[in-house]
Amino acid sequence: MIKLSGIEKVYRTSSIETLALDNINVDIQKGEFVSIMGPSGCGKSTLLNIMGLLDEPSKGEVIINDRQLKGYKDKELARIRNQEIGFIFQSFHLINDLSVLDNVEIPLLYRPGSGSNRRELAKEALEKVGLSNRMKHFPTQLSGGQKQRVAIARAIVGRPSLILADEPTGNLDSNMGNEILNILLQLNQEGSTIIMVTHDENMAKRTNRLIRLFDGRQVS
Ligand SMILES: Nc1ncnc2c1ncn2[C@@H]1O[C@H](COP(=O)(O)OP(=O)(O)OP(=O)(O)O)[C@@H](O)[C@H]1O
Ligand SMILES: [Mg+2]
Repeated sequence: MIKLSGIEKVYRTSSIETLALDNINVDIQKGEFVSIMGPSGCGKSTLLNIMGLLDEPSKGEVIINDRQLKGYKDKELARIRNQEIGFIFQSFHLINDLSVLDNVEIPLLYRPGSGSNRRELAKEALEKVGLSNRMKHFPTQLSGGQKQRVAIARAIVGRPSLILADEPTGNLDSNMGNEILNILLQLNQEGSTIIMVTHDENMAKRTNRLIRLFDGRQVS
C-alpha cells in the first residue's frame, strides 16, 4: 500500500538545519492499522505529511499503490492526494461558515460528478459517523467529538484507500476519543488502511502495529 525507504527530511533556515527524519523505512500493507508514537518534536507529523504527499522528503523514496512518486508533478500529486488519501487532523480543520454537509462535500468538488451525487455521498459518509441528524448545523454548533466525526466523514467521502490521522483524539476527552477510535477501527475492518499518530498507548495497543520514533529515528 505504502512504502517508504531511506527517508530523510532536513528543514533548513538561514541559520539552522534540523534533521527531522533520519533513514525511515516502513512498508505498510493494505488493510493494516498502524500507530506512530514518540515524544513531541520527534518527527511524527513530518512523517505523516510525507506519507500524505503534503511534503517532500529531502532524500529517499515514497511508493504508494505501487507508484514511485519521485518526479511526479504537483498536479499529479494533488490528484493522488484527492482520490486516494483521506486526512484527519488534531484540530479538525473544518470551514466554519459552511454547513456540516457542505464541509463533507469539499473533497468531491475536485472530481467529476453531479451535485446531487455529491450530496448523496456526503450523506452516506455522515451516516457512517453517526451524524445524519447534524447535516444542517455549522461546525461552531458542534461538540469537539462531533467536529472530529465531521472531519472523518470528509476524509472518507471520496472512498480513499489510505486514511492518515494526526492525533485525531488529541483535543478530545477520553470518552470522545474512544468514540473516534471505534469509528476508525470500524473503517479499518471495512478495508481502509489507516496510519494514526497518537500520544495514547492504550489507543496504539488497539491497532495492528506500532512505529516508534525518537529524534527523527525509528526505534521500533
Ligand atoms: N517548517 C519547519 N521548519 C523548520 N523546522 C521544522 C518545520 N516543521 C517541523 N520542524 C522541526 O522538525 C521536527 C519534527 O517536527 P514534527 O512536527 O514532525 O514533530 P511531531 O513529532 O509531530 O511533534 P508533536 O508531537 O509536538 O506534534 C521538530 O524539531 C520541528 O521543530
Ligand atoms: Mg505533530
